Amino acid sequence: MRRPLVMGNWKLHGSKASVEKLLVELMVKANEVEGVEIAVCPPLVFVGQAERLLRYSQIALGAQNIDVNRQGAFTGEVAADMLGEFGVRYVLVGHSERRAMHHENDDLVARKFEAVKAAGLIPVLCVGETQAERNNGETKDVIGHQLQAVVKRCGRKAFDNAVVAYEPVWAIGSGQAASPVDAQKVHEFIRAQVAAQDPASAQALRILYGGSVKASNAQALFMMDDVDGALVGGASLDAQEFSGIFNAA
Ligand code: G3P
Repeated sequence: MRRPLVMGNWKLHGSKASVEKLLVELMVKANEVEGVEIAVCPPLVFVGQAERLLRYSQIALGAQNIDVNRQGAFTGEVAADMLGEFGVRYVLVGHSERRAMHHENDDLVARKFEAVKAAGLIPVLCVGETQAERNNGETKDVIGHQLQAVVKRCGRKAFDNAVVAYEPVWAIGSGQAASPVDAQKVHEFIRAQVAAQDPASAQALRILYGGSVKASNAQALFMMDDVDGALVGGASLDAQEFSGIFNAA
């Protein structure tokens, strides 16, 4: 049995005051649920504050990005080891916003995935197709390449102790989530791709769905066999809404 994981990606949102308020509210709500793992990925500057607030909580801490280097002359960057010192457990790699706005290609994403693992943290590999790719029937091709780049770099057991998040680009922030059946088809494909490399890691792999997940649509998505949780953007900034999602898991 895979333990569901519900992660909040706060993107570029928050202030010291809002981080404290949201985490305090979430800790109370998280205490009322069992059998689901909850994590939040605040903007980097709030990671230390979140670590202090979450010290005695079951909510795990994640980060939104890292540099592939461990240290050196890389102004403005942060290394996975540094995040590990602050109690970070998960790191997102290959989010479509970074692929699109920061020109991260499959190879760089694979190197980040490798760097996260080398630091003993858990990479959350984000994959997904754009609207145009979907219209052209290229969804499986695109996702296949995104997964393959990681296997090429990290080997057949790449997805041991890792998480994959299927985030169709057209569903992110659009209010239009993939239907549960469509999400399931892609999740099943992802698991099969990983199984072709290593059946055991495919069985254990948690595959999250992301893209306009809300309290009202979460349960139907979580009913699907291969949907093991969610990566939530906008709705993770509201304690009521986010807790509705982790309760559904
Ligand atoms: O990483 C989560 C994300 O991209 C989904 O965002 O706002 O559609 O839930 P949202």
